[in-house]
Formats: sequence, structure tokens, C-alpha cells
Amino acid sequence: MPSTNSSLFLCLFLAATSLNLIIAADPDMLQDLCVADLNSAVRVNGFPCKPATNVTASDFFFAGLAHPGATNTTMGSVVTAANVERIPGLNTLGVSLSRVDYAPGGLNPPHVHPRATEIVFVLTGEIEVGFVTTANRVVGRRIGQGEVFVFPRGLVHWQRNVGSTPAAAIAAFNSQLPGTLGVAAALFASEPPVADEVLERAFQIGAGEVRRIRRRLAPH
Ligand SMILES: *[C@@H]1O[C@H](CO)[C@@H](O)[C@H](O)[C@H]1NC(C)=O
Ligand SMILES: *[C@@H]1O[C@H](CO)[C@@H](O)[C@H](O)[C@H]1NC(C)=O
Repeated sequence: MPSTNSSLFLCLFLAATSLNLIIAADPDMLQDLCVADLNSAVRVNGFPCKPATNVTASDFFFAGLAHPGATNTTMGSVVTAANVERIPGLNTLGVSLSRVDYAPGGLNPPHVHPRATEIVFVLTGEIEVGFVTTANRVVGRRIGQGEVFVFPRGLVHWQRNVGSTPAAAIAAFNSQLPGTLGVAAALFASEPPVADEVLERAFQIGAGEVRRIRRRLAPH
């Protein structure tokens, strides 16, 4: 019967659509590989592929996560990214990693990844993790070595080392280039600056406080 067929079709369509919403990430690949030509002047969504004959194993390799990064930063943490900018072979594949190292008390300050959900795996130490939902509810806890925690795509999140020793974590993303927008830096250390009046009103603070925060967050 046509009505049965169309109901079946509708069900399949809805199932496929909702599934697609659940697993939505970077666009799907259309070929085996498309190693990024990072120097190309062509602008596309992602990077154009370099000639297949130029592809080597080093396009798929990165040693930069093997060792701790230097955590003597203002926040006491450092992120080493293993994304398409470092591993051109990741182009169109929809995944990447980062390593985060934390000094004792170090903070990876509140930030968002506009293009990826993140799952962190603690290599060493104990960190406190959390994210904020659009209902302004904080979801967080402490996690230790070997444990994982998930930060849904686009939500503000952070990690802090609550132990007395250095900590480290590996983060995985369902994007070749998740993007990072640091909340404090985006608002107080942008170029050109966000207007003082916007920050004064939004944070209910005075001009002096805006200046003080800007000074402290300025890149040294
Ligand atoms: C491909 O390899 C050739 C020969 O080594 C080189 O001249 C050319 O610049 C390479 N092209 C790209 C896009 O990497
Ligand atoms: C951090 O430590 C490294 C290595 O010990 C040193 O070269 C660098 O200057 C330090 N950076 C800061 C901002 O102190």
C-alpha cells in the first residue's frame, strides 16, 4: 500500500536524520585520503589535497605528544595540538588529538570548541573537569589516571590540576581542527578590543577593572 510505503519511508528518513544529528561532525570523506596541502592558496572548507604521489608516511605522523609541554605559563597549563595543521594527513578525516600538561594547580581556562565534542583521558595525576550547559548548569567532577570525561561540542569547559604533582591528559576530538575560543581571551584580549562599555555592562564591573583584566591577559 502506498500509505504503508510512505510511512516506512518516513520512519527510515527520520531515523537517518536523527542518527545524522547525533553523529554530526566534520563532513564525510569522499576518497581514501586527502593530505592537506597547507601551502595552497586555494580556499575550501578544509584544505585542498596535495598530489597523491607526494604523500608519505610523515604526512600521517607526529611525535609532538610524546613529551610533556612546558607548563610555566600564566595559567600553569599548556596544550599541544595534534590536528590537521600538524598532521596534514588528517585532512577530511574528522578526528584529532591534543595533549594537555598541567603544573600543580594549573588551569586550562574556560573555553569552547566550536566544531567538536571532546573526550579527555588522564595520563597522570588528578584533574577537576567541568562544563556548563545552556541552562547554566555546571556538570563536573574529579577524574584520575586512566579515567575519561566528555565535553559536549560547543559548551564552555575547563580542567584544573587539583593534585600536588604535575598532571597530563590526552584529548580526542571529532574534528580535524576543533577550534578553540578561550572565553576570557576572546572578550578581554581580542584585536581590535571589544568595547569597554560592552564588558563593563556584561560583567557589571568598572572601567578600571576592565583595564586591569586586559593588562593581565595581554600576551607577553
Ligand atoms: C610534489 O612533489 C614535487 C616533487 O618533489 C614538488 O616539486 C611539488 O612542489 C610537490 N607539490 C606539493 C603540492 O607538495
Ligand atoms: C619556561 O621554561 C623554559 C624551560 O625551562 C624556559 O626556556 C622558558 O623561558 C620559560 N618560560 C617562561 C615564560 O618562564
